[in-house]
Amino acid sequence: MLSSDHAEIVRATLPAVAAHGTRITGEFYAAMFAAHPELRNLFNQGNQANGEQRRALAGSVVAFAEHLVTADSTVPFQQMLSRIAHKHASLGVRPEQYTIVGRYLLDAVAKVLGDAVTPEVHAAWSEVYWLFATLLVAEEARLYQDAMCDPTAPYRPWRVVERRDEAQDTISLVLAPADGGEVPSHRPGQYVSVAVTLPDGLRQSRQYTLSRTTDDTVQITVRRVRGDGRTPDGAVSTFLVAHVSTGDGLELSAPFGDVVMDDEESPLVLVSAGIGITPAAAMIDHLAAVRPGRTVLAVHADRSPRTHALRDQVAAAGSNMADFRQMTWYEELDGAALEGDAAMVRSGRIEVAALPLPPKSRVFMCGPIPFMREIRRGLIRAGVTDERIHYEVFGPDLWNGGG
Ligand SMILES: Cc1cc2nc3c(=O)[nH]c(=O)nc-3n(C[C@H](O)[C@H](O)[C@H](O)COP(=O)(O)OP(=O)(O)OC[C@H]3O[C@@H](n4cnc5c(N)ncnc54)[C@H](O)[C@@H]3O)c2cc1C
Ligand code: HEM
Repeated sequence: MLSSDHAEIVRATLPAVAAHGTRITGEFYAAMFAAHPELRNLFNQGNQANGEQRRALAGSVVAFAEHLVTADSTVPFQQMLSRIAHKHASLGVRPEQYTIVGRYLLDAVAKVLGDAVTPEVHAAWSEVYWLFATLLVAEEARLYQDAMCDPTAPYRPWRVVERRDEAQDTISLVLAPADGGEVPSHRPGQYVSVAVTLPDGLRQSRQYTLSRTTDDTVQITVRRVRGDGRTPDGAVSTFLVAHVSTGDGLELSAPFGDVVMDDEESPLVLVSAGIGITPAAAMIDHLAAVRPGRTVLAVHADRSPRTHALRDQVAAAGSNMADFRQMTWYEELDGAALEGDAAMVRSGRIEVAALPLPPKSRVFMCGPIPFMREIRRGLIRAGVTDERIHYEVFGPDLWNGGG
């Protein structure tokens, strides 16, 4: 709880902080990286350049402050805390680093808001920061302990035992532990951080969902992010697709992620777009092995059959289930590629109203944020309650603009 005098100050200054949130975090990152260049490796430099991480950090701090001082904050706080903690844990964020972030973040608030930041305002926002930090540190400590992970050495060596082309620009890498250890415990829907040293020497990590696992191996499925003339090619996905092959070593974190399949009996609806199919594929694979009687409706949107990754994996797992239905929408329908395809295929975009949603379904979505917003609106109109809709974002969640 925020002390009452600080709550008053935070309530009064929240609109100014919210209005300047991304400027504040822009100042923050610039100053922090200047003083601590070693932290550049930890942060995704692509998200720094495109501004997404700035918006995510600012959005989360403003949402947390709102949660503290207003009765009806718009963001589900526990969900936000859990998502950030899992992401941090996959990257090995450590308690002592909160002191560095706190210092540069509060300095940036003072720099951007100028004279408005009196000592009292500074103290009030410092309390907000440390309340948030304390909750995150505690949650991360629990995650590290459960994963038996030492945050000072978050990565283990793995070896690629198979590389497979999945679809246009998309590969799967099957990996086995290279340190004699076992495949760590994990739940369908979780991801690992993959750390690579890029040709320019920069070390970078990205998250990749475990798209399938066996007792001895894990599989990740990577889509190469292409630049569009104005933006560059994705650094890590391009490296993995262009340079990694069977026999190569890769460093992987323990599995983390809180958007995981439950153990309920209720029907499952999995809605995905593009490479967002990876968590759904993992869930279907798992269910086919351990609970083949569960009702599953798998709904997928893709550009065309050529870009549709893991189609065969999903179809093979689905064929081992008693009540599995698949519906696919392609923006560009390539008739020839669909010959003999038993799955229901349509052209255009997913029409939620056309989905045969089983009653009391639990829904998992993964795809671009605008896609998921549109699907969520359709699901709510169709009577699915918000608490039964779960989603994964393949980038920083923005915690503003809602859904
Ligand atoms: C939980 C989670 C699970 C994920 N699972 C998967 C998965 O299973 N499979 C998968 O393929 N991906 C997955 N991802 C996405 C993955 O982690 C990476 O984000 C993705 O591969 C892109 O990384 P990159 O290094 O190639 O691109 P980056 O280099 O990080 O670039 C990202 C974007 O920023 C743009 N950008 C970079 N620099 C600039 C600049 N200077 N100016 C403007 N724009 C710029 C790039 O053009 C690109 O569009 C997942 C992400 C998360 C968070
Ligand atoms: C109270 C303090 C902090 C808050 C509120 C915070 C908030 C966030 C948020 C909202 C995200 C995006 C999560 C998502 O993917 O949706 C994030 C990611 C991240 N955070 Fe933090 N964070 C804090 C402290 C720290 C610290 C101390 C470090 C370590 C120096 C750190 C390092 C990172 C990194 C490396 C990422 C991933 C960046 C990326 O993928 O671009 N954070 N954090």
